[in-house]
Amino acid sequence: MNRVCGSNELSTDSCWQVLSTHAEALKPRHLKELLAEKGRFEALSFRHEGLLLDLSRQRIVPETLKRLMELAEASELPRWIEALFAGEPVNDTEKRPALHTALRLPQNASLQLSGQDLVPDVHANLARMAEMVTQLHLRQWRGYTGEPIDTVVNIGVGGSDLGPVMACRALADFQPEAAQGLNIHFVSSMDGSQLAGLLDRLNPATTLFIVSSKSFTTIDTLANAETARRWLAEASGIADEVLVRRHFVAVTASPEKAAQWGVPQDNQLHFWDWTGGRYSMWSTIGFPIALKIGMDNFREMLAGAHSMDEHFRTAPLGDNLAVLLAMVGVWNINLLDYHAHAILPYDGRLAHLPAYLEQLEMESNGKSVRRDGSLSERRTCPVLWGEVGPNAQHAFYQLLHQGTEAVMSDFVVPVRRYEARSETLQRQHQLALANCLAQARVLALGDAALDAEPASPWQQYSGNQPSTVLLLDELSPRTFGALIALYEHKVFVQAVIWGINPFDQWGVELGKKMATRMLEVLGAAGSDEGMDLPTTGLLAEIRRLRSGEA
Ligand code: F6P
Repeated sequence: MNRVCGSNELSTDSCWQVLSTHAEALKPRHLKELLAEKGRFEALSFRHEGLLLDLSRQRIVPETLKRLMELAEASELPRWIEALFAGEPVNDTEKRPALHTALRLPQNASLQLSGQDLVPDVHANLARMAEMVTQLHLRQWRGYTGEPIDTVVNIGVGGSDLGPVMACRALADFQPEAAQGLNIHFVSSMDGSQLAGLLDRLNPATTLFIVSSKSFTTIDTLANAETARRWLAEASGIADEVLVRRHFVAVTASPEKAAQWGVPQDNQLHFWDWTGGRYSMWSTIGFPIALKIGMDNFREMLAGAHSMDEHFRTAPLGDNLAVLLAMVGVWNINLLDYHAHAILPYDGRLAHLPAYLEQLEMESNGKSVRRDGSLSERRTCPVLWGEVGPNAQHAFYQLLHQGTEAVMSDFVVPVRRYEARSETLQRQHQLALANCLAQARVLALGDAALDAEPASPWQQYSGNQPSTVLLLDELSPRTFGALIALYEHKVFVQAVIWGINPFDQWGVELGKKMATRMLEVLGAAGSDEGMDLPTTGLLAEIRRLRSGEA
């Protein structure tokens, strides 16, 4: 599904060629000059579902978008979008669909996969999750002493951690009264440092562990779960079976494996292998989110994402927020040579957005082999990182303003915040908004932002660093759902343009296999055979230090 464009019969090659010529013509024009053009903001900003996507500080003109949309057409993007939503096996290396959009479908919708409607199953799982949420909110779930559970620890990693962590922080203001006495913690790291610190503070009798793992084979998660189980056993002296039934819930797409580990069916929440790990916070992996914000708000988050899905599925390419965001990324990466992307939320509630997008974008599109097995001749996903903007201003913005690296940035900020809180807090948000706009302006215009002549060479700002501003009316479950779905679809669009499968992650597997082998090597009877010389050197040093030799 690539090569020939239906409507204008341009091949992707000729679209790239046209774009390349256009880029050469546009490169000498500094953003100073472009930003002075009348009607630019109106022509380059787009709205949907409480979100405004402002592309006016990108190094583009309206014609650029036209040319980029030709490339999208020639890459058969509309056909790929249809395939995604219809449940075709777009994850072709694993021969399955990627149906995170099905998780957001309303109850009255229908989606057939292999002759079966998925929607009733999706909603049955949500209803089952809602029952567990109610039980915990009403303090009806009791631990081994009969006391009600008041603390939940989610054990998971990657997609089974980052989405829930991000959403719980982002939407904490929406916590219903029933959820307020319930403490929620997250543990992901295999080294045990998060868990060890937490177990010292928690009461085993009132703590429930959610073991979140799509595969239920991830060593990081199983190691943490095993430590938690041992901690409970030592504290309670109670039979394992009783302990697991009262203190563990498994959220998984591999029910048999969870059962083998000991979690009974009644304590399991399920989802499906057609839900990618990093696309799974909308499924029962979102259990901690629902515990934090309640089912009504969780459903609102799904509705916001669904609204973005519908927009992505039906809006013309040139008005389609996800397509625009993605294609401007393609422009920066492939035509202007930007290979670093900063994610800068100006709202502390979005503190985990950068980490979430790091996985979403880099695990999805950090690939160099195309669907057809050929090596990509173009660059794909850039290095993505970020931080809450106001803090990053005092950390790495220096490099953005005066460094030698070309960096593109996304600023994400809600307009309204703290409306029911104090005036001073409202002023603080005003301060954050002002800084966000100021930074986007300085990055674009450099010295010209304040019409000031630099007093010395070290005070010069060259500007011309492109950025996107994503303005949210306010941060709510709905706009948050729409925002995350927007980025998911952006990633898909870029994958289509680059011809890669964004839904597998083979690159992660080799490291996992090597770690398993290394664990054997590190063990008492381990042998270094086949190891490289630096590894052998380190192993010898580790053994020496462990044995207490000087
Ligand atoms: O890091 C690889 C990965 O498979 C991610 O894609 C996934 O989100 C994470 O590990 C956790 O996987 P699981 O939910 O199966 O434990």
